[in-house]
Amino acid sequence: MGDENEIHRDSRNDLHSYANPREIQITHVDLDLDVSFDEKTLTGSALLSIDRLVADANRLVVDTRDLKIQRVEVRDAGGDFSQTTFELGGSDPILGTPLSIAVPAGAVAVRIHYGTNPGASGLQWLDPPQTAGKLQPFLFTQSQAIHARSWIPLQDTPGVRVTYAATIRTPPELRAVMSAELTPVPHAPAGEHRFVMEQAIPPYLIALAVGDLVFEPMSERTGVWAEPSVVKRAAREFEDTESMMQAVESLYGPYRWGRYDLLVLPPSFPFGGMENPRLTFATPTILAGDKSLVSLVAHELAHSWSGNLVTNATWRDFWLNEGFTVYVENRIQEAVFGRERALMEATLEVQELEAELARFKPADQILHVDLSGRDPDEGFTSVPYIKGMLFLLSLEAAAGRPAFDAFLRNYFDHFAFQSITTADFLKYLEETLLKENPAISEQVPIAEWVSEPGLPPGFPRPASNAFSKVREEARRWLAGETAASGIAASEWVTQQWLHFLRALPDSLDDSKIRELDTAFGFSKSGNSEILHQWLLIAVRNEFADTNEELERFLTAVGRRKFLKPLYEELVKTPDGLARARTIYAKAKPGYHPIAVATIDDILARAEP
Ligand code: BES
Ligand code: ZN
Repeated sequence: MGDENEIHRDSRNDLHSYANPREIQITHVDLDLDVSFDEKTLTGSALLSIDRLVADANRLVVDTRDLKIQRVEVRDAGGDFSQTTFELGGSDPILGTPLSIAVPAGAVAVRIHYGTNPGASGLQWLDPPQTAGKLQPFLFTQSQAIHARSWIPLQDTPGVRVTYAATIRTPPELRAVMSAELTPVPHAPAGEHRFVMEQAIPPYLIALAVGDLVFEPMSERTGVWAEPSVVKRAAREFEDTESMMQAVESLYGPYRWGRYDLLVLPPSFPFGGMENPRLTFATPTILAGDKSLVSLVAHELAHSWSGNLVTNATWRDFWLNEGFTVYVENRIQEAVFGRERALMEATLEVQELEAELARFKPADQILHVDLSGRDPDEGFTSVPYIKGMLFLLSLEAAAGRPAFDAFLRNYFDHFAFQSITTADFLKYLEETLLKENPAISEQVPIAEWVSEPGLPPGFPRPASNAFSKVREEARRWLAGETAASGIAASEWVTQQWLHFLRALPDSLDDSKIRELDTAFGFSKSGNSEILHQWLLIAVRNEFADTNEELERFLTAVGRRKFLKPLYEELVKTPDGLARARTIYAKAKPGYHPIAVATIDDILARAEP
C-alpha cells in the first residue's frame, strides 16, 4: 500500500523544472525571434515579466536546454534596461541547464538574448522534400512535456502560467502561426508576424510553426491551416469541428479561447495531435478521407477544457489532463457520431490499456505516477489516458450522468485558468460530488484508482455490439467455415476493421495472410490506422509480401505511436533487427528528435 499522505505532501513541487516560481514567478513572455532555415536556429530575445513573491528574492531561475545565452538585461519600472549577471549551471540529460539571473530590487522584467541549437529537442526543421509541396522548408515546435526550454528560456513548469506575445521574422514567402491570436501590424515588413495570447497558459502550450501555409475556413470560428495541396482535403475531413465545439459547450460551458483552428503538419509530426490553444497541431495521418479518425480532433478540442483551462500542475498529475480529455473526447464522439461509434472507440482503447498493463511493472500502472529521475515523456502511456478515463466513467456510473455532468462543468469553472494537482482534484471531489452523494465513495475505490496499480475489479467496461459480429466473422474465417471473401464485412466501419485485425491470433500462416489481403487490400489501405495494424501482423509473422509497404510507411511517417510498435516487433528476430537497422538508417534524417530518441532506445535494447 502506498503512503496515504504522500499524495498531499508538497504536491506542487515540480521535479522536472529548476525554476524558482515560489520566489520570483514569470507572468508574461514577449518573444522577438528571427527564424533562420539556413542555420536551423531561432535567435533573438525573450522578455520575461516577473512577479516577486518573496520580498527580498534577488535571483530568477529559468530552465534552458542547449540554448546559447548571449547577454541578459533587467528592466526597471521606468522602462530602462541595464545589463545584469547570470550563471548557467551544469546540464542534466533530462532537465537541461538552469539559468540563474541576478535580479536587483526594482527590476520588473528580465530580457534574455539567446539563440537555439540546431538540434533543439522542441524544434523540427524540415527540408523541402519532407513537406507536401516539396519547395519550401518547414519548422514546427513541440513543447510538451519539457521541450519549451529548448527554444525559450523560461520557467518550464505547468504550475506556472504566462500570457505571451511574439514577433516572429521569417523568410518573406513563408507564414508563421502560433498558439495565439495573429495580430496584423500596419506597415510591417513582409515576413514579420505578430501574435498575442491574452489568456495565461502553461509554457508547454507555447507553439510556433512556419511554412508554406494557407488557411481554409470551416465555420465562423473554426478553420484549417495547411500546405496548399492539403488544406481543402483537411477542411472536408474536419468539417464537423463546429458541431463538436457545440457539443462540448452544451456539456461544460463556453469555449474560452476565441478561435479554434487546426494546423495539419507534415507527416514527420511525432504525435497524433497537440492541443496548442487556439490552434491544434495534427498529423496528416488522420486524413483518411471518410472522417473515420477524427476522434483525434475531438480529443484535442476537449483539451480546451481539460488541460488548457484546468492544467496539471506537475507531470505526475498528467492523468488530470489526459484522462479527463479522453472522457470528454468520448462524450463528443457520442454526441456527434452516436453511441455505437463512441463505444467502439472506447472498447478499442480499453483493449490497448489492458495489453499495456499486462507488460508494465506495477509502479507504471499508477495514475499518480512517480516520475522522479525520469523523463516525463515516459509517462505517455495508456495509463493516464485510458485508466484515467475509466476512473471517471466509474464515477459517472455511480453518480448518474446528470450529477456527474454538473460536477464536471463546475470543476472546469472552479479551476479555470489554474494549474492543479491530483490532491486538489481529490479535495474538490470530496467537497462536492462525494458530499452530495456519499454512496459513491462506497462504490468507487477512489484511492485505489489513483494510487494503486492495475484496474479495480468490477469497473464499468465499455462494450460494443458492433464488435460481437466482428468477432463472430473472425471466428468463422479462422475455423475454415468461410473464405475471406465470404466474411460479411460490407458495412464495416474503420473501428470494426481494427477490432477484426486485433482479434486475429498472433501467429498466422502466410497463405491466410495473403488470402485476407487479396480479399480486402489492407496493404494498400489509405487509412493509416488500418495499414499500421496490418503491417504489425505482417512483421509479427515475418510475412515478406509487404516488405516494401513497411519500408515506405516507416520512412514516410514519423508518428511515434505507429513507429514504436513496428520497430519493437521488428527487433524481436535477428532478421527483423537487421531490417530495422537498414530502414532506420534511411528514415532517421526525417524523424523528429522525440521519435529518434524512442527508436534509438528500442535498437539499443535490442543489441544481441
Ligand atoms: N497532449 C497530448 C500529446 C503529448 C502528450 C505530447 C505528452 C507530449 C507529451 C495530446 O493531446 C495527445 O494525447 N495526443 C494523442 C492523440 C490522442 C487522440 C490520444 C497522440 O498524439 O497520440
Ligand atoms: Zn491529449
